Parts: sequence; structure tokens; C-alpha cells
Amino acid sequence: MKRKKIRELLSSKAEQQEVLVKGWVRTRRDSKGGFSFLEINDGSCLANIQIIVEHSLKEFSKLDKQITTGSCLAITGRLVVSEGKGQKMEIHTAVIEVYGTADVETFPLQKKRHSFEYLREIAHLRPRTNTFGAVMRVRSRLAYAIHQFFNDRGFAYLNTPIVTTSDCEGAGEMFQVTTLDLNYPPRVDDGQIDYTRDFFGEKTSLTVSGQLEGEIYALALSDIYTFGPTFRAENSNTSRHLSEFWMVEPEMAFYDLDDDMDLAEEFIKYLFVDALKNCSEDMEFFNQRIDKTILETLQHIIDNQFERLTYTDAVNCLQKSKETFDYPVEWGCALQAEHERYLSEKLFKKPVIVFNYPEKIKSFYMKLNEDGKTVRAMDVLLPKLGEIIGGSQREENYEVLLKRMKEANLDPENYWWYLDLRRFGTAPHSGFGLGFERLVQFVTGMENIRDVIPFPRTPKHAQF
Ligand code: 4AD
Ligand code: MG
Repeated sequence: MKRKKIRELLSSKAEQQEVLVKGWVRTRRDSKGGFSFLEINDGSCLANIQIIVEHSLKEFSKLDKQITTGSCLAITGRLVVSEGKGQKMEIHTAVIEVYGTADVETFPLQKKRHSFEYLREIAHLRPRTNTFGAVMRVRSRLAYAIHQFFNDRGFAYLNTPIVTTSDCEGAGEMFQVTTLDLNYPPRVDDGQIDYTRDFFGEKTSLTVSGQLEGEIYALALSDIYTFGPTFRAENSNTSRHLSEFWMVEPEMAFYDLDDDMDLAEEFIKYLFVDALKNCSEDMEFFNQRIDKTILETLQHIIDNQFERLTYTDAVNCLQKSKETFDYPVEWGCALQAEHERYLSEKLFKKPVIVFNYPEKIKSFYMKLNEDGKTVRAMDVLLPKLGEIIGGSQREENYEVLLKRMKEANLDPENYWWYLDLRRFGTAPHSGFGLGFERLVQFVTGMENIRDVIPFPRTPKHAQF
């Protein structure tokens, strides 16, 4: 017989004479009347299915001790409408097979609430909890919705390299990739490491962004997006930073900064709508257990226009506010998390897009405005979370780009192909990057970014 998933069984309209269900025991309760009630979960949905086992069942006395929290079972039985409260269907067991036992003394996930910190230490078992099951289902659905959004709009999905020789953000926060013997690296005469003898014949790292390569393809296919892992060797121990995270980067020919902001706003709203519609059971759970305002917050964002203001106006707002910030605000400074939160959470109480940042605090590839002081950059800030998207119109003028590169201490020779795009058929174009984990974090209401990725990588943590 073919196994049925619990999601399907629970939504079954009719009783069924015989079904086969497989899953892990969440709880077991024995009644005096010679029954055991098992709650079984197979991850297909949040809800468990209740299994009723009569102790008179042929092999029960043999299996009794093996059926404990965490054990894995296959159950054949009759699917019937439940008389108990809170569930629609249950299974009256005919045959049980135990696939795997879970020792009561040592199985770490006993029936009680565990802290997320503790669960991170058992990242191999945490997906078997309600919260992590729900987070990963929502994460998976959002990934699907991202592909759908771009596919529906005629964007091509582009795979950019993970190993690279360029530093897109120019921040020097890259993990080096090498096969050189670190104890005895080859050196050139002046003592520097001889990278011509490294695997790729030059110094390579893990990418911080697929944008530069994305631009190559946007200037051929018009609209592309990437969706892949990116790596940052920044020593940030916050609830919003990972060393390895997934980024979505659309890049569009013939888009100016306004078009870019429009797409970003449409994109975020589309994803929120999709999660509410297609993950309603899990979203209901987050609203009850994780953040009591999350459904309301997402709906409010969907229903309202994002606030858009220039960096200069944002600085004015911050200076006029009566808040005491840890970092004082003056024109030219980078906006800190506390500033971003004030703008979106307190002042406007909705998403805010800040644009036209000072060129000195932004990357070399952003288009210089006519004022010569600001660039066409934009950040989308969400209440509580802060920055979820960073993007810009790209500098398409060869001379200006070359000058900006030199000012940023980048060697134009390393970026000859990027400059070439401005020599041969250059065009206005724009794009942005959305941090996928920050998206999942916001949608689920989870406090810590480490709890919305299956295996978080952060400074000093790379286990599992
Ligand atoms: O603002 P960032 O650094 O922009 C770029 O990398 C551009 N090349 C994107 C582009 O224009 N194509 O990063 C983009 C987004 C941030 O807004 C944030 O959501 C996320 O990536 N992000 C991180 N997420 C988790 N952990 C980190 N350490 C992150 N750094 C950035
Ligand atoms: Mg940024």
C-alpha cells in the first residue's frame, strides 16, 4: 500500500477503510481502558494525526516499550472521523511497525518547550519541533514564490559563480578559497604569497554578491535574477547577520531608481500575500506562539504604500526627533540599525525606502547623481528588522565608473570586464539584493536569524 501524508489524511473528506501513515511520535498517552493515544507528525503540515492503538492488538505487548516520543512508526489502520475535540480525522490501528526507537533517557526532544538557543545545539533534531517544521515549510514556500514572481514577469533565473576573484561590495569581507599548503605557502621574491601556484592561478574567495555577474546578463537578457548562497566574513554577532546567507538579486536593463523601488515594493508585498495565503496553518501558529502581531503587521504592510524619502530628509527627520541615539546623526554618516528602526517603526510605522545616499558611504558601482555628492542607492527598511533590501541604479558611464573605482582603491584591471560593459552597448540599469533569511525572519516573526536557516554559519559556528 502507498503511504499517505498526514496533511492529505487530515483534509480527507471521507473515512477510509485502510490507510498507511508513517511518521515520528510526538506524544503518547495511555488510557485505563486499554488504549494508547499517539500523536504522529511527518512534517507535511503542522498538525499531528491522532492514532488510537488498542492494547489487545496482536503484537502490542512486544512493541509497547518501543513506542515512545521520538520513535518512528509505520501504521496501517482505518481513517475515521474523530469524536475528540480539535481534530477532524484519526486512525484506528490495525498494524504497527517500528522503524526506529528513541531511547527515553537520552532522546533530547522530550515533550516540553526548549529554548531556541538549546535547539541550535541539536540542529540535527530541531526540525522535528513545531516551530522549526513551520519555519522550514514557510521558507520553502517563499523560495517557490520568489521563483514564481520573477518567472511570471519574464525574468531569467541566472546562476552566478560562488568562487570569484572580485569583491562586489568592496568591503574586504571575503572568505578566501585556496588549496595552497598553509604551513608552507609558495612565496615570490619579496615574500608575498605566490598565488600563481594556487588552484585557480590567482587569489580567489567566496562571493559576497552575484551582482556584478548579474549585470553582465541583464545587459543581454534584459531582466534576470539570481538566488543563491553568499558569504560574508564580517565579525557581526547580531540577530540579523549570518556568515553564509541566501540572497535574491534581480538586475534589470532600462530600469531607473524609481522603477527599482517600485519592483522592490511589489516584490515584498507579493511574498507576504503568498505566505499568508499558502501557509495559513503555519502562519496562524507563528501568530499564536512567536509574535502575536505578525498577521496584522503583514496585512498592514500589504495594504499600504511604503514611505519613500531621501537620505537627506531621513537625516533631517532623525535630527528633529526627540530620541537619544547611541550614534549621533549628521549628514554623511551611515544609518545605524537604531536610526533605521526609528524611521520605520516609530516615525512612519511602515516600510520605508531611503534613497540618494552620500556617495562616500556606498559602493563604487552606484550611479552618481548630478549633485556629485549622492548616489542613486536605496535601502528598504522594515519595522523591527531594519534593512531587508539594498539596491541601486548602476553607474553606466565609463569615465565616472573608472573614477569611482579608483577612489574606492579597486584595481580597474581586475574589473576590466565590468568596465567593458560600459564600453560596449552600455545602458541604464538597476537592481537590488534581498536577504532571504531576513525575509523569512520577518514573515515568521522569529527573533533570531539563526533560527530561520537550517544550518546557521556565524563566527565560531560551522557545525552540522
Ligand atoms: O546591502 P547588501 O550588501 O547589497 C548587496 O550585496 C548588493 N550587491 C545587492 C544588489 O544590489 N544586487 O546586501 C543585500 C541584502 C541586505 O539588504 C540584507 O537583507 C542581506 O542582503 N544581508 C545579509 N543577510 C544576512 N546576513 C548578512 N550578514 C547580510 N548582509 C547582507
Ligand atoms: Mg546594504
